[in-house]
Amino acid sequence: MGCGTSLSDGVAAGRPAPAAGPADERRQVTILFADLSGYTAVAEQLDPEVVKGVVSRILRRLSDEVDAHGGTVDKFIGDNVMALFGAPVAHEDDAVRAVRAGLGMQAAMDDVNADLERTHGVRFGLRVGINTGDVLYGTIGESSTVTGDAVNVAARLQAAGAIGTVTVGERTMRASRHAVTFAPVAPLELKGKSEPVPAHEAIALLQPHAIRRSATESPLVGRRTELSLVLEAQRRAESESRAQLLTIIGPAGVGKSRLLQETRRILAERDAPPTLHEGRCPAYGSGVFWPVAEVLRAEAALGEEDGAEDVARKLRERLDVLLERGGQHDAEARQRAVALIAHVLGYETVPTGPLESEDPQRVRDGFFAAVRSVVEAMAARCPVVLAFEDIHWADDSMLDLIGHLARYVRGPVLILCLAREDLIERRERWGTARRTERVHFLDPLAPDEAAELVAALLPADHAALAAGVAERAEGNPLFAEEMARSVAEEGAAPDRLPDTIQAVLAARLDSLEPVERRVVQHAAVVGRTFSLEVLEPIAREESVDLDEVLAVLEDKDILVQERPSGVLGGPVELGFRHVLIRDVAYESLPKALRAAKHIEVARWAEERAGDRSEELAEVVGAHYLEAVEYRAQLGERPDREVDAAVCLWAAMAGRRAWRLWQQSEASRWFGAALKSGERSGLPDADLAELTELHATTLDGIAAYDKVVEAYRTALERYETLGRELDAGRMDAMAGASLFNAGDDENAMECMERAIRRLEGFGDSEDLITALEMLGNARRRRGRLHLAEPLLRKAADMGSRMGASAPLSQAYLA
Ligand SMILES: Nc1ncnc2c1ncn2[C@@H]1O[C@H](COP(=O)(O)OP(=O)(O)O)[C@@H](O)[C@H]1O
Ligand SMILES: [Mg+2]
Repeated sequence: MGCGTSLSDGVAAGRPAPAAGPADERRQVTILFADLSGYTAVAEQLDPEVVKGVVSRILRRLSDEVDAHGGTVDKFIGDNVMALFGAPVAHEDDAVRAVRAGLGMQAAMDDVNADLERTHGVRFGLRVGINTGDVLYGTIGESSTVTGDAVNVAARLQAAGAIGTVTVGERTMRASRHAVTFAPVAPLELKGKSEPVPAHEAIALLQPHAIRRSATESPLVGRRTELSLVLEAQRRAESESRAQLLTIIGPAGVGKSRLLQETRRILAERDAPPTLHEGRCPAYGSGVFWPVAEVLRAEAALGEEDGAEDVARKLRERLDVLLERGGQHDAEARQRAVALIAHVLGYETVPTGPLESEDPQRVRDGFFAAVRSVVEAMAARCPVVLAFEDIHWADDSMLDLIGHLARYVRGPVLILCLAREDLIERRERWGTARRTERVHFLDPLAPDEAAELVAALLPADHAALAAGVAERAEGNPLFAEEMARSVAEEGAAPDRLPDTIQAVLAARLDSLEPVERRVVQHAAVVGRTFSLEVLEPIAREESVDLDEVLAVLEDKDILVQERPSGVLGGPVELGFRHVLIRDVAYESLPKALRAAKHIEVARWAEERAGDRSEELAEVVGAHYLEAVEYRAQLGERPDREVDAAVCLWAAMAGRRAWRLWQQSEASRWFGAALKSGERSGLPDADLAELTELHATTLDGIAAYDKVVEAYRTALERYETLGRELDAGRMDAMAGASLFNAGDDENAMECMERAIRRLEGFGDSEDLITALEMLGNARRRRGRLHLAEPLLRKAADMGSRMGASAPLSQAYLA
């Protein structure tokens, strides 16, 4: 929408083509060039007659695409097609039509190539270039002509693009980006142009549903103040060229997401709309930094259909181009930033280059900086709005990252966060620390506003009930909507309606057909949003036509179409209209069934994870864990197989979290993995290592006696395996915890044992630690003469190992 397209002067949409030879006129036209390549190679291999046949077949297919989208083939130039959209007949969406035609041509070409390879063993390449601009349109004799710079640029874009792609100019992109995803490509140096010309690669059509809204959305009521607050913050981001952080806080159903939706709508109507990307925090079972992954996927226009390798490659390529355009000219720094991002988000399991050797803290800092530079590069192109939904569910690292961006990003960036009050309970000072930060509490609607909303939703013959419903809803629009629906469907008087939102929703779910309700419950186990594929098992089980059931559920406004989140599954994703509906559906399931369904979903995800298992470890792990927890609540022991799966996935998720310095997450995962591992008979060596990881991740965040106990368990396990070196390390670590807690006696005992164990293995960091700790414990006890030799030994070992050993040297100085 908007974005600089306008109807061509004087030509109404849909008017039939003028009969002949109109006078020259200036028009806005979108020009498409499509060029076949590989022609010469094919001509060498095939008989000229065959070639001619093939080429004309292809050209026919290409012009069919033009026709199908309401364009006109202007001329064929050899094996090159030139088509116009917007002349002689203009449509309001000519740019979109042209891009659709371009993508359609590439798809048609793939088809033809598949055929040709089978029959003749040859293939053609196709390049498409599209550009929009003002041209002079007229006729010479029989044929029409367009002249203008825009035409040349279109031809050049086509020539400069890669085979198999659709390359479009700036104006076309702007006029069609509501309907098509684009990836940035490096600006093109075009013949005859002094400045590089910005270019974009059209990737895919947005699913029509991505721009469709819930069919029964209620008209917006009130919220003028809040909207102007958001717009004001956005303007301030632009005028100050500094990130602004606005956090909207309110209970479920009060209208936070709606406010964001309205903001999106208002911004989209501007001539040059800011880029708005949304990152959602799923209630559970999301990957690390999920909301940021969503934002970056959107920025890099990654399709759902892409395989893991493609995702990683495209993400890196596109972010690289973005950073370069944003002024980051150091290719190595760019490389490093994009590698870090791909690695942290789990798109690349094998870290590249310098990452391997780095400690988690540095990886995390580097990642924060990399995300920041990407956001700044986005903002260098045009103003940016990053909207993070439901951040009360975000983990601490994610909140830290948002805080980091809010604090350091330079450029016109508004960070809009939505959350429930829980956020403030967790982080009292969230979003208020700086002048550029602000928190706004979203109040319930005023009584007259609530009444207006209800009145709009009730059929005319129920209008008298509006005031009563509005009063019971207490200004919560979700509550108001749901009650109005019950009144409309059942004709109940407002005072007979259930008086909590949960009860209203439960009643509505009860009114569904049994099979519909079972599908809804199954979906609720998956999460707030889910792909169609994940529902296939239940559809099979129930032998129902999934599409039909889902259509009904959409009609009943339980489910809505969602933007794909890229968690798992295909391009079509659905979600609950509101997360509370999901919660109520979920809670209506008996625990035993919940457990069974979580396992079903986990297995489904496991099967499809394939080479994305790293990225999906948290999701799969979370489903398995839920199952285990429900069974425990029911007093059941999970079977071995489930335990083994929990252990595997939780350990993977733990390692991933630990690599990113998410210590509490990591220890939680390792703890769970350990418990299941113990039950499922994990081999002793693995068990010992897992125990050590658990102890290490507890160290610093748990009470010291817990930490010591964990190290001791690990120690015993290593001892049983005869792994003296590892046992010695555990002694040293346990001793360090005891020492830090002031328990010198026990600390010394551990250290002495550690030293005895470790000494036989030569120099090591662990031995240094043990020596230092024992030395320091003795010093602290006043046994200086016993301390000094140990500290000296530690210092010597340190310098032998090439490490600076500042601690021992400082003590000796
Ligand atoms: N000001 C409003 N006017 C009309 N409908 C609203 C308004 N605010 C919210 N709604 C509707 O109420 C429902 C719940 O709002 P939503 O934004 O999803 O709540 P939240 O995100 O705070 O949980 C949605 O269906 C939404 O369209
Ligand atoms: Mg919401």
